[in-house]
Amino acid sequence: MEQISDDAHVMHHPTAWGPLDTRLSRRVSSWALRSGAGGPAAGPWPPAPKPGAETLGGHAARQVLRLCEAAGLSGADAAEYARTLLSVLGPAGERSLDLPPTYDSFLSDDHTPVEFSLSFVPDEDPTLRVLLEPGYGADDLAQNGRIGLQVVREMARQWGFDTKRLDELEDLFFPPAPQGPLALWCALELLPGGIPKVKVYLNPAASGQERSAETVREALHRLGHREAFAALPEGDRHLFFALDLGDWEEPRVKVYLAHHDLSATEAAGLSRMKDGSPEEPELRTFFRTAAGHGPDATGFEAETGQDARLGRRPVQSCHSFTETATGRPSGFTLYIPVRDYARHDGEALDRAVAVLGRHGMDAGPLIRSLSAVTSRRLQDGVGLIAYLGLAYQQGRPPRVTTYVSSEAYEVRPPVAVPSAQLEAVH
Ligand code: TRP
Repeated sequence: MEQISDDAHVMHHPTAWGPLDTRLSRRVSSWALRSGAGGPAAGPWPPAPKPGAETLGGHAARQVLRLCEAAGLSGADAAEYARTLLSVLGPAGERSLDLPPTYDSFLSDDHTPVEFSLSFVPDEDPTLRVLLEPGYGADDLAQNGRIGLQVVREMARQWGFDTKRLDELEDLFFPPAPQGPLALWCALELLPGGIPKVKVYLNPAASGQERSAETVREALHRLGHREAFAALPEGDRHLFFALDLGDWEEPRVKVYLAHHDLSATEAAGLSRMKDGSPEEPELRTFFRTAAGHGPDATGFEAETGQDARLGRRPVQSCHSFTETATGRPSGFTLYIPVRDYARHDGEALDRAVAVLGRHGMDAGPLIRSLSAVTSRRLQDGVGLIAYLGLAYQQGRPPRVTTYVSSEAYEVRPPVAVPSAQLEAVH
């Protein structure tokens, strides 16, 4: 029977895709050759892998090269950012993809320590970002955190920014025996010019889940945001504490909350911004469109009714603080884990296109980005688009963010549709 069996949950790279086209575009590879990045006789950089010899770093670096091109960055910037990614991954980047992930990184569903995203505003090219776990491959979470700190401090030296605000929090987020689900992640905004903007993500549960609220309160307090904790809405868990480091106009301190079984109406009430707060109907529409509960609902197993709750992976909210005068956040973001509420990535993309269209944004760069990271068909998996986000920051137009998985290790199979199940039976 030519049917994917029910227990074929997990497809391993690269066999599931067939040979991935890893040729570099002429623009990127010719730049890399000219600059001698791979040595004069070394050929394109990074070199295309021999069959079966694909490494994590090679896979992700090639994705970055192609994504940079899709996002309109120059070949020089693309090559620089591919190199940056490899140096952040360190020795873990040299691991063969035939080996399983070193540990169950929480960064992505298949435990690849890399995730891409595009941040859209109207009338401009989107910004490409990459989320990385520098300590991936460490022996334990304590070492993972130490490597993470080292790598961020190295970036600070290289790009000339200070890590003062991170240093002030070190004892809170890096105890001797930290607990999960992460130690330190960093995100890079890949701007033209080869020098990224840097964000750091820390784990409020480092000293235990039961201490996470207190850890967040103390961290906010140390950074001068003395009333910020009291301004946060209720949530089920403090997931991340994040800092903008480096050359930001208005560096933010961000607190991420998880919300289980959330409805669109509840989600629309989560912003605590003082000015420029999102319109509640706009947030509800975003929630329903992303979750597949919209007017042309395709949400599988969607509860009926206008206010269906998202009962699988929780929705997240992010509250960002840029000033200490009002005690209130100046930014709010809602993240819908679209992958857990869609059958396959074709459906997830349709929703992303609908959200982008509603906000006057062109989905072209997202579509190009998906083919930059994978050659598989969208309907053959789910999870390539991990989250859809809608971000508000006082004084700025709303942004739509789309999170694109690297899928270095696995592609999650699509949810079977009833007709396919029928075919399987007969
Ligand atoms: N993989 C984690 C999750 O699904 C963390 C994460 C990665 C995340 N990218 C994200 C959370 C984007 C929110 C938005 O929660």
